[in-house]
Amino acid sequence: MKIVESHYKNLLEAVSFLKLGHLIGVPTETVYGLAADATNDLAVARIYETKGRPQFNPLIVHVSSIEQAKEYAEFNVLAEKFAEHFWPGPLTLVLPLRMDSRISKLVTAGLNTVAIRFPAHRVIIELIKEAGFPLAVPSANPSGFLSPTKAEHVLAGFNGFQEPKLILEGGSCMIGLESTILDLTSDQVVLLRAGGIALEDLLKISDVSRVDSNNEIKAPGMLNQHYSPRKPLRINASEPQNGEAFLAFGPIDFKGEAKVLNLSPSGNLTEAAANLFSMLHELDQSDSQGIAVMP
Ligand code: TXA
Ligand code: MG
Repeated sequence: MKIVESHYKNLLEAVSFLKLGHLIGVPTETVYGLAADATNDLAVARIYETKGRPQFNPLIVHVSSIEQAKEYAEFNVLAEKFAEHFWPGPLTLVLPLRMDSRISKLVTAGLNTVAIRFPAHRVIIELIKEAGFPLAVPSANPSGFLSPTKAEHVLAGFNGFQEPKLILEGGSCMIGLESTILDLTSDQVVLLRAGGIALEDLLKISDVSRVDSNNEIKAPGMLNQHYSPRKPLRINASEPQNGEAFLAFGPIDFKGEAKVLNLSPSGNLTEAAANLFSMLHELDQSDSQGIAVMP
């Protein structure tokens, strides 16, 4: 496994691995993903195996155009509106699966719905176009742990594994948080996972309700443990205690010994989002015993 530059020759090599049912590490605007041919059962099974992911947790199908999305999902008027407004970009739509779609049943975990998105990153768009098939792409982290926002995070997460065969370099992810997931399969639009698109922007298109927490698990944010560093993490901390590293936000006046990183000294939430996972990775690898995070 190695990180390679994303020029045409390496993209073609990545495509030949995908065609053989192997996995590729790939950048998107949100986080790095672990890509497989979404129509190949064996390839998709490798995703679950490599990530140690529970089989009941379905995957997002990634496409390189709205027309391609319509080959796999049923679009209604509202879905069209969301797609036109936010694609390519960090929005995933859960829609009825088309009966004639060739998507592997492992991707949807047997559901009759499919999560689909058109990402905004040159490298994954070219990879999908060159491959000619849609890609199933979860975040490229071992299940339950911090999401990767740099190619090196992917390498560190799967060091010594058989897969992915290659990691395509794409720089630091611009958004740094997963895509926002909206369920459009009922008469209400339901937010299944908060992510790269702000709620205020979604509300320009339609009303959005929060998911009912008594419902069955529909998205990963509802599992008790997710996006977790290896070290204990303490939230709403005003300052670090003995042995803790400190993840700050906004102007601070801390003069202790602890290692300190600041998500955004000016208090900018977009900047903080882009830094969140990479700073957590860095503090997780520092020699602190735990991580304290400011409100
Ligand atoms: O930003 C992203 O979306 C990243 C990048 C790589 O594109 N991908 C990503 O995938 O976050 P993943 O597998 O880490 O999270 C996808 C989540 C699943 O955990 C699942 O709960 C939800 O999407 N999902 C997938 N299919 C679904 C469906 N049919 N109904 C409801 N939720 C679904
Ligand atoms: Mg994930």
